[in-house]
Amino acid sequence: MAIKCVGILTSGGDAPGMNAAIRAVTRAAIFNGLRVKGIYRGYKGMITDEIEEFKTQNVSNIIQRGGTILKTARCAEFKTPEGRKQAYDKLVEHEIDSLVVIGGDGSLTGARIFAEEYNMPIVGLPGTIDNDLYGTDVTIGYDTALNTIMECVDKIRDTATSHERLFFIEVMGRDAGFLALNGAIASGAEAAIIPEISLEKDQLAEMIETGFRKSKNSSIVLVAESEVTGGAMGVAERVKNEYPQFDVRVSILGHLQRGGSPTAQDRILATRMGVAAVDALLDGQRNVMIGVQNDQIVNVPFSKAIKNDKPINRDLLNALRISSI
Ligand code: ADP
Ligand code: F6P
Repeated sequence: MAIKCVGILTSGGDAPGMNAAIRAVTRAAIFNGLRVKGIYRGYKGMITDEIEEFKTQNVSNIIQRGGTILKTARCAEFKTPEGRKQAYDKLVEHEIDSLVVIGGDGSLTGARIFAEEYNMPIVGLPGTIDNDLYGTDVTIGYDTALNTIMECVDKIRDTATSHERLFFIEVMGRDAGFLALNGAIASGAEAAIIPEISLEKDQLAEMIETGFRKSKNSSIVLVAESEVTGGAMGVAERVKNEYPQFDVRVSILGHLQRGGSPTAQDRILATRMGVAAVDALLDGQRNVMIGVQNDQIVNVPFSKAIKNDKPINRDLLNALRISSI
């Protein structure tokens, strides 16, 4: 059956560029003669009936804004069949016959389950600063967060150098080290400690015993948040006990990494993906995430995007190791 009305929502952690994606989906849908309804607060808004018809002007003047005008939430009820039934009933009431879900791994997992239960066409957009979705080279929000990290590390370097200190800077990423590794390369940090490598070797020991040049009077190490790495606090604690010669400080960048105006890259990515999501729905695609591979838009089945761990590019590890001697 041809789709007529697309519901759009943002779910999970917000990411810069989500607004650009909302704008693109809304306008592409209207351009193609479809109706669009904005669903507020992610899956929660489906259950609590926070749904509003969107016209082109609803998405004016938002491409440059961080966060999400649709708000976002984490919704425990949606994890239950009863919650999803309530959500589906509301969509039917509003004549919504297809969905575009913008979010991370958890949000797309919810979308996949919902699409299977109710036979509803759903297309996902990878919206997360973590860049941890398989099947896409980049996710919406990742580039902006990376640039924010780079600017923060540049600032911390000034004080690190003046005091001749060793700084451990914790960055987000949930269980993935993309922000830490590329943030370290971009800011000229000495090393990155990331979960993908934690089981292979003791990254801290290697870095301190072989990595640090004596003539460097300060050092910056980016640590990916994660139980596996121990986070920046955990690593610093180890240094205090095992290598007491260092004057150590910790800085946790936290949620500032999620805010700010999206970079040009994120705005363009979100716009391309938003337009592609509507194309995919019109083309009869369902249960796919829009990705970008080698600058080409691709449709990745939810099953692949969610289930597989996205690998770290080993060239990046090498580039960091060599460029920081
Ligand atoms: P993200 O999308 O950023 O990874 P979360 O993991 O917090 O964020 O997931 C966002 C929301 O997606 C959850 O609050 C829940 O509503 C929905 N969700 C996550 N996992 C499931 C699941 N297994 N079944 C149904 N819904 C889910
Ligand atoms: O998934 C995005 C993310 O910012 C992760 O990097 C981080 O671990 C998590 O969300 C933090 O979530 P919250 O918004 O609940 O603090």
